[in-house]
Amino acid sequence: MILPIYAYGQPVLRQEAKDITPDYPNLKELIQNIFETMYNADGVGLAAPQVGLPIRLVVITLDVLSEEKPEFKDFNKVYINPRILETDGEEVLMEEGCLSLPGIHESVKRKDRIRVKYMDEEFNEHEEVVEGYLARVMQHEFDHLDGKMFIDHISPLRKQMVKGKLNALLQGKARAGYRMKCVK
Ligand code: NI
Repeated sequence: MILPIYAYGQPVLRQEAKDITPDYPNLKELIQNIFETMYNADGVGLAAPQVGLPIRLVVITLDVLSEEKPEFKDFNKVYINPRILETDGEEVLMEEGCLSLPGIHESVKRKDRIRVKYMDEEFNEHEEVVEGYLARVMQHEFDHLDGKMFIDHISPLRKQMVKGKLNALLQGKARAGYRMKCVK
């Protein structure tokens, strides 16, 4: 089932999300729905707060990049209770967008290498060092679990430049190719 994506302005996007346990109600179905919602909106990642749930759950798909990067073939992963343990490497500037902020694309500086721990769908623990594009997507998505969005990382000047678009979202004037839930 495709869920509405919560737009900028929704309080859930600014909340600290909570860890979950294997007995979280209908977890398998929820994960399926979040994947479906992400694919429908052509996203590469979606965090549970973006569908209105303040829980630490993220899905990432990088299959669309697999023509250029074969290692991402069939890459569709669930990250439960993830934490970034360490950031390292170069600071890299790359343009980002977000399904909760349609029409806004800004360059964001992030570290190129991170060490993360998380649980998979079966609640097996993993710890990994991740680099490059996946490290970028993880940092963006895991930020959502701490109530942060990519626009928090841009300069005050750039923020001023996108103010009109942010206000339009607050007014319920989201223009997206998928269903959104705005504050108004
Ligand atoms: Ni996002």
